[in-house]
Amino acid sequence: METTLIILKPDAVQRGLMGRIIARFEDKGLQIVGAKMMKIPMALAERHYADHKGKGFYDGLVKFMTSSPVLVLAVRGLGAIAVCRKMMGATFGSKAESGTIRGDFGVSNSFNLIHGSDSPEAAAKELGLFFAPGEVVEFARPVDQWVYDYGKGAPE
Ligand code: RTP
Ligand code: MG
Repeated sequence: METTLIILKPDAVQRGLMGRIIARFEDKGLQIVGAKMMKIPMALAERHYADHKGKGFYDGLVKFMTSSPVLVLAVRGLGAIAVCRKMMGATFGSKAESGTIRGDFGVSNSFNLIHGSDSPEAAAKELGLFFAPGEVVEFARPVDQWVYDYGKGAPE
């Protein structure tokens, strides 16, 4: 099981898409184990996107991410990092496949609705940046017996 950091970006919150996007993750069988609405402080946005510093889109990206509140989620499931990235679709809304979140809800190449961690290392780092200890809650979900095949003990 993995936990990944998802951010519903300012455009998703302003456009009233939070519920529909969260519903996609829940419909998939993923578990929401953390949720926090916040206006990202500049210093946190800069740390979160440190790998992009110096790129042409960096200043605009940090400005966008700090411009209005976001909803930060911790999402748990088998292979959650890759599953969520696939559900998000390609970075640019204009290129993202239909059926993905970016493909279905956006057409902009910078206002692209959602962030998701892209590796286990990034997920660990980003969960630590956005959630204090105890804010990500692990809780048993009886329906997991039907979301996953536990026939061999571990979820499949
Ligand atoms: P994210 O980190 O937000 O989940 O998105 P991503 O992995 O799909 O894309 P990444 O390359 O990490 O870029 C981070 C965010 O920067 C904006 N961006 N703009 N104009 C551009 O060329 C450009 N490239 C990236 C997007 O908001 C992207 O999500
Ligand atoms: Mg990225």
